[in-house]
Amino acid sequence: MPVIADRCPAVRTTIVDMNAARIAAWNSERLPVYEPGLEEVVRRVRGRNLSFSTDVAGAIKRADLIFVCVNTPTKTYGLGAGRAADLSYIESVARMIAEHADTPKIIIEKSTIPVRTAESISAILAANKHGLRFQVLSNPEFLAEGTAIHDLENPDRVLIGGERTPEGEAAMKVLAGVYASWVPRDRIITTSLWSSELSKLVANAFLAQRIASINTISAVCEATGADVDEVAHVIGRDSRIGPKFLKASVGFGGSCFQKDILNLVYLCEHFGLTEVGAYWESVVRMNDHQKRRFTERMVKELFNTVAGKRIAILGFAFKKNTNDTRESAAIAVCRDLLAEHATLAVYDPQVAADDIRRDLQGAADDRLVIARDAYEACAGAHGVAILTEWDEFKSLDFARILKAMPKPASIFDGRNILDLAKLRAMGFQAFGIGK
Ligand code: UDX
Repeated sequence: MPVIADRCPAVRTTIVDMNAARIAAWNSERLPVYEPGLEEVVRRVRGRNLSFSTDVAGAIKRADLIFVCVNTPTKTYGLGAGRAADLSYIESVARMIAEHADTPKIIIEKSTIPVRTAESISAILAANKHGLRFQVLSNPEFLAEGTAIHDLENPDRVLIGGERTPEGEAAMKVLAGVYASWVPRDRIITTSLWSSELSKLVANAFLAQRIASINTISAVCEATGADVDEVAHVIGRDSRIGPKFLKASVGFGGSCFQKDILNLVYLCEHFGLTEVGAYWESVVRMNDHQKRRFTERMVKELFNTVAGKRIAILGFAFKKNTNDTRESAAIAVCRDLLAEHATLAVYDPQVAADDIRRDLQGAADDRLVIARDAYEACAGAHGVAILTEWDEFKSLDFARILKAMPKPASIFDGRNILDLAKLRAMGFQAFGIGK
């Protein structure tokens, strides 16, 4: 919304949430989300044509377009537990709109939701007391965290799905008009509702599959002595494959990939497509395998035991330039190391100590130290694991780190950002992913 407000001065945007603390944080000097460039945009538009408020009913009444941006976490209970999306927030928003709206509106699903959710939203909206007609559009977001503002300002494409009726086409035109203020027309794609909802799941499934695929090859490289970065470089030069999203790693994380694939799997199973579901589920299984494989290699190289040893964990966010830890590979690796009775000293430049403790809750708090910087984390550690590719880790003073570690000192680069040959020449035992 800040980017829309920034690019469309004539559009008035209001962000509403029932959570007063959250709204207060967005109205404060310190924004609750770390994202490069976000603060500048918010400062520009807040109080101009963007406001944050808890008056949900009032904002619904005044709006012509309503973006539904609520969380759709994976269901933890009942039918489809662990796979299907929990749509209770979506439903309660639809009911709230039906209750408060007194003029027709265009409702836009921004939350990633499984195919055919628009149908349920329409059904709830149709039951409003004024007999109003609403148009429901699907407008999935393709931004990646850490580069969100850049991605929003320069999107590869904007996707708008709607009903193929004159009213649906007209609503799509209105929304396309908003984006056209800064996005070239040929990048605005319109499809049916269902194609749009499904495309978002498929886009994430394909991206995650690329990472899972190169990660399987990293295991082959470690076994054979080939270098996975070299292999990725060679295959990426084939223009049909392309160079992006082929970086082998300790495993993908984030709020989208695993959740969306599991949604796709649930959808397949629902329609009796068991083999298709199993195919996509294997991407998630392979990612879990990669995280476990990383920890197993650490334990093996640390002479088959980490019990009582201090291990430094550099990076806890699921990728650089974000303070988001959802599904971060670091969580699985830390839990496995704590289960092996290691003591962990964790440092991340942006993740709050409380969030790290929350994510590792129940996994031996007495053996968890949160360090203020990388040097403090590494002092006295037998091993160092790099789990997020933060730029500051590339320019650490490794001679200083080596001095403060018991020998032999080991480094496990879970992101392939360090020069292993150089580290080995300094006296480290150095390991990467697929090397
Ligand atoms: C993703 C999609 O990229 C985005 O289009 C969608 O809207 C939301 O989901 P996001 O989860 O924010 O975005 O981050 P992304 O950059 O895709 O990274 C996901 C994970 O994959 C991270 O843990 C990242 O470190 C990892 N990754 C990415 C790799 O391990 N290797 C790569 O080559 C690329």
